[in-house]
Amino acid sequence: MLALFGGTPVRTRPFTPWPIFGKAEEERLLRVLRSGHWGRLDGPEVSEFENRFAAMHGCAHGIAVANGTVSLRIALLAAGIRAEDEVIVPPYTFVSTATAVIEANASPVFADVDLDTFTLDPAAVRACLTPRTRAIIPVHFAGQPADMTAIMAIAEEHSLVIIEDAAHAHGATYQGRPAGSLGHMASFSFQSSKNLTSGEGGIITTNDDALAESCRSIHNCGRVPDGLWYEHHVISGNYRLSEFQGAVLNCQLDRLEEQTRTRDRNGQDLASRLAALPGLRPQARGPACTRHGYHLFMLRIDETAFGAPRGAVLKALEAEGIPCSAGYGFSLPDQPLFRHKAFGPYLPNASGRLDYGKAHCPNSDLICREQAIWLEQHLLLGPRGDMDDIIRAFEKVHEHRATLRATDLRAR
Ligand SMILES: Cc1ncc(COP(=O)(O)O)c(C=O)c1O
Repeated sequence: MLALFGGTPVRTRPFTPWPIFGKAEEERLLRVLRSGHWGRLDGPEVSEFENRFAAMHGCAHGIAVANGTVSLRIALLAAGIRAEDEVIVPPYTFVSTATAVIEANASPVFADVDLDTFTLDPAAVRACLTPRTRAIIPVHFAGQPADMTAIMAIAEEHSLVIIEDAAHAHGATYQGRPAGSLGHMASFSFQSSKNLTSGEGGIITTNDDALAESCRSIHNCGRVPDGLWYEHHVISGNYRLSEFQGAVLNCQLDRLEEQTRTRDRNGQDLASRLAALPGLRPQARGPACTRHGYHLFMLRIDETAFGAPRGAVLKALEAEGIPCSAGYGFSLPDQPLFRHKAFGPYLPNASGRLDYGKAHCPNSDLICREQAIWLEQHLLLGPRGDMDDIIRAFEKVHEHRATLRATDLRAR
């Protein structure tokens, strides 16, 4: 019997908790505390982290910042994005990918994602190009790099700036090259749930010296390397990271390589075994994805082929001891923020020209409304036996699909 109806759950033990930390973090944090050098301008931690993270991600420069939202905004400002410019973004992503564009006073234009990879569909991007298009932000969704070969080809043809949103893709590789080194700039997040975390934080990576210099200035109140302390060259802000965050990130970075390998191995194992069940379609992985970051293990469920509705399946999986969710409830153009163009002081001329109600993103809509199932990254950090439990839970729910279909779960 399903655990949802009183049966024995497949799993009662918790999965690997997140975040993972130990003596190394404790000692390094205490060292910062006792040093009295708490800000990045006074101590070595953030600088050391920037250098190490950038090198691991195939880049000459890393500029650590307060979070993975301002990192996108700073990258857009450094790229010279201005009012009236258009920036193409996917509709299936966290809201920041698009709001960062608005905060640069430019217009996000939504190009649909591919139904199987959940990343930007290059054909949809081409259909969105206009003379105002200046940049594209491909999201490496769930940790799988977007189709960067096609996206960089479009960029070259139309002289566009590519900012990778790599918030999910620490340690991922594409044709053997690290995510974060594939476009002109990239943005990562270190928010609590991310594969590398200091509670909050972010970084911009790039191989372009001029863009790096510009990002560094914007993240530090518009200062320049040889300028006076109270000399400010561009509109900017204080987006610096603290040394406490730098200390934690340096320790977490020591763990990243092994954790990424474990996630990738377990993720591939789960994907191949879940695909054998009717109606389940794990995120498709092309040959260009040489390592998946697996910030999320994501799949689609075809309710008819599986034989039970998604909402009921999620409830049944939870009861079997498998934490899971439906992910985003809306494609971004359907968010009230976009429907009502609640952009505050930004885009003062947006009212006539932009109509997000007309954005055509059927794949994203289907994924949001009916099909997505997300498992969080830390579930993939355990032994193979943990994957066996996840598979067994899906199999059990599938075996009992008729009961699930026939029961009204609204009261449960
Ligand atoms: C795809 C994507 N981009 C950007 C962000 C923003 O990062 P942060 O939460 O650090 O501002 C997130 C965070 O959830 C994200 O998932």
